[in-house]
Amino acid sequence: MRIILATLSLIPVAAVTATAADAKAGQAVYDKSCKSCHGPDGTPNASVAKMMKVDMKDLKSAEVKAMSDDDVKKIVTEGKGKMKPVKTVSGADLDNVAAYVRSLKK
Ligand code: HEC
Repeated sequence: MRIILATLSLIPVAAVTATAADAKAGQAVYDKSCKSCHGPDGTPNASVAKMMKVDMKDLKSAEVKAMSDDDVKKIVTEGKGKMKPVKTVSGADLDNVAAYVRSLKK
């Protein structure tokens, strides 16, 4: 009985992650693949910016807000300036992380 309940409780989670562009699911991807450089809330990690000698934009800034989902996805898959492509993020994770970045608020 316990096993059945545990299995059932996993179903809603799976249903949520299956939808395209889910910002909440994207947060997990962000925390794993982006946070070390872009900070927990999109505020650039100052030591990374210093080490890479680049002026990183806050992901909550108007410039980044003005980007489309596709712009954000392209930066992740192809890189931009000093940011290297993040090859571990693709498919639904890519859609979700873009949605999460777009949802960051000051
Ligand atoms: C190793 C550090 C590092 C990681 C990991 C990283 N980034 Fe970046 N990112 C950068 C740097 C550095 C820049 C600035 C590039 C430049 O302007 O030369 C940048 C720029 C960006 C920009 C454009 C904003 C700007 O400054 O113009 C976006 C959007 C972005 N990153 C999203 C992401 C997302 C989403 C992830 C995770 C999937 C991610 N980054 C992972 C270092 C990183």
